[in-house]
Amino acid sequence: MQAKAPTITLNDGNTMPQLGLGVWRARLGDAKRAVLDAIGAGYRLIDTAAIYGNEEDVGAAIAECGVAREELFITTKLWNSDQGAENVRPALEASLSRLGLDYVDLYLIHWPMPDLDLYVETWKEFEKLRSEGLIRSIGVCNFEPDHLERLINETGTAPVIDQVELHPGFNQEKIRAYCDAHNIRVESWSPLSGSAGGASLLQDHRLLELAEKYDKSPAQIVIRWHIQNNLTVIPKSVHTERIRQNIDVFDFALTIEEMSTISSIESTRQGHNPLEMYRRTTSIS
Ligand code: A2P
Repeated sequence: MQAKAPTITLNDGNTMPQLGLGVWRARLGDAKRAVLDAIGAGYRLIDTAAIYGNEEDVGAAIAECGVAREELFITTKLWNSDQGAENVRPALEASLSRLGLDYVDLYLIHWPMPDLDLYVETWKEFEKLRSEGLIRSIGVCNFEPDHLERLINETGTAPVIDQVELHPGFNQEKIRAYCDAHNIRVESWSPLSGSAGGASLLQDHRLLELAEKYDKSPAQIVIRWHIQNNLTVIPKSVHTERIRQNIDVFDFALTIEEMSTISSIESTRQGHNPLEMYRRTTSIS
């Protein structure tokens, strides 16, 4: 039987699935197969980005999957070097052409890049492209509360989503509190701590015990923790069995105590912090 993720409502009235497939670090070829597997397993949300280099693969899978376009929810992201009023439209058009689509459901500013100081004008361009129908909903990634505050103050439009690295051991409490207060959904990237060497998180004894109790895997316990925290979640996998497993999390519930036990897991990130990530990505651009 196909699993199905619940639908959430965004602050612009649009809806999206609460769980999807992330394809960061999925190589060309692998990404296409993973997206086809995911759609076959019941996923409807697929999250890619221009910088991942696999939008063509995602597009090829969308074209082949046999599911109607309007049933799918496709997210992609504007890369750092494409910020600025004149650059956004051509960057979006290039993404749409690689994806083989005439609109994306969600377009995100990938990083705030405060040193460039272009995210406000970039955001105004996002609003324009949304009004033209090329984008259904607009949001951001990796924005801290002060970046969000500035967007809202200067444009009057809150993003529908702030997609940030978030997993047990890296709970992002400040961003979550700000977003909750401003009706912005938080979406967890690297929800299994994959970018920080997820193997150590998934071997945590507390997760192993809960996995045993519920007859689930540690990854399913962590994904369930995201869901019950009201987060949107996009675990990455290129393995059919894991892709199926990761959406099969809607037939059990963690208790309040178990939720806080998972939240109290110490950091698994070993010195890798957002500022370092930010510096790394700035040098890519
Ligand atoms: P793979 O693609 O080889 O399955 P992230 O936290 O960034 O979403 O990354 C998840 C990481 O955990 C990936 O490296 C992925 O590797 C792996 N993974 C995904 N699903 C599972 C699962 N159900 N069990 C174990 N590892 C998983």
